[in-house]
Amino acid sequence: MGNKMLLFGISCILLAYYTYMPIPENIEEPWKVRLIDTLTKIATLTATLFEYTGLMKFEHLFFILMRTQNIEPISDENITVIDTEFSNIPVRLYLPKRKSERQRPAVIYIHGGAFVTGSPKMESYDFVNRMTANRLDAVVVAPDYRLAPQYLFPAAIEDCIIVIKFFLQDKVLEKYGVDPAHICISGDSSGGSLTGTVIQLLQDDPEYRNKIKAQAMIYPGLQTIDTWMPSYRENENGPFLSRKLAIMLSVRYFTKETESVHAVLRNEHMPEGSRDLFKFVNWSHFLPEKYKKNHVYREPIHGKLNTFSALHLDRRVSPLLVNDSQLQNLPLTYVITCEYDILRDDGLIYVTRLRNVGVPVTHDHIEDAIHGAILFSTAPMYLHSGLRIIDKYISWLQENL
Ligand SMILES: *[C@@H]1O[C@H](CO)[C@@H](O)[C@H](O)[C@H]1NC(C)=O
Ligand SMILES: *[C@@H]1O[C@H](CO)[C@@H](O)[C@H](O)[C@H]1NC(C)=O
Ligand SMILES: *[C@@H]1O[C@H](CO)[C@@H](O)[C@H](O)[C@H]1NC(C)=O
Repeated sequence: MGNKMLLFGISCILLAYYTYMPIPENIEEPWKVRLIDTLTKIATLTATLFEYTGLMKFEHLFFILMRTQNIEPISDENITVIDTEFSNIPVRLYLPKRKSERQRPAVIYIHGGAFVTGSPKMESYDFVNRMTANRLDAVVVAPDYRLAPQYLFPAAIEDCIIVIKFFLQDKVLEKYGVDPAHICISGDSSGGSLTGTVIQLLQDDPEYRNKIKAQAMIYPGLQTIDTWMPSYRENENGPFLSRKLAIMLSVRYFTKETESVHAVLRNEHMPEGSRDLFKFVNWSHFLPEKYKKNHVYREPIHGKLNTFSALHLDRRVSPLLVNDSQLQNLPLTYVITCEYDILRDDGLIYVTRLRNVGVPVTHDHIEDAIHGAILFSTAPMYLHSGLRIIDKYISWLQENL
């Protein structure tokens, strides 16, 4: 009982405090964003307390909170929704009901959640994928890939690849009436990272090269080398996704030992001999002037930590860690970045690098939105910016897929 009272007291203080905390001026629907930010900070504090007292691991609270958003597969007048498996990996499928003369396009949607939470069953992802299926008359496949920390890197990638390869079989495409020349892979946040990775891996595989027409990334994370880029500095405390929360959650994808969190927080996690790779993510070189502001480039420290940090050299963790010749054959690309997002610069750098080597890229920057906006696309907590992002994403698919 005492503990509960304590927790309640702390929550009240936080609520009062954060409700009055300033948030960026031109953000859309500031009071809703502030509420989202406050609730997230309360959850972060609670998760920290729970971990400290041994009640549960830090990320588990976020896993539970996100899971409460899951909904059953419910078909409607236009779309049949089913949960099934592709090669033993669970997927949620959206299949248009109306008769079609032509073969349909298809979208494989990889959800976000920092590799430790989330599912395509969440109401917000259901909303996005259902609307995609409806407006495009497309088949949507959403893999429910394995999550960390139970399943560490590269389990998520392996599951997505298995699902995609299963789906790309002639007999499967035929079964769902899909046109093999009109397939896109999409994802948001960590799902955008997975999208970048799986597209590169497929492009390197002679059997799958050029089988994917397009990739669409919504505020993707595309590197783990430099956690002190301008966007990380400007949005260090959120709103919504603070630098610390992002790092505390996503580091669990790589390792079960928590020491490494501190190294990543200090931007000192790169191993000996890794300096050669910094050029691929050098924001001082790739970021448009507008976003550099008065920030001074500081190289990440390398050579302090060596065991776990070797993972940060893996381009399956950071799709930005490849040279120009590996980028130039990537397909038509759509990138959405948000101003109030630590991951903003990852997306901006990828746009620059892809354009430099001639990959056709459409880029939309949302000036007044936060990271994770599409998670708030359904009542009662919806953000207009989330709906706008979803509309832009689907409109791009309509014109380009
Ligand atoms: C079904 O499709 C029609 C025509 O596009 C649309 O007006 C209607 O809102 C759709 N129904 C649902 C439940 O999305
Ligand atoms: C980063 O880019 C700046 C400007 O182009 C350059 O001066 C610096 O040497 C680069 N550093 C690394 C590590 O690539
Ligand atoms: C790019 O990287 C690939 C794979 O590591 C390598 O085979 C290739 O030689 C590199 N190309 C250039 C131009 O550095």
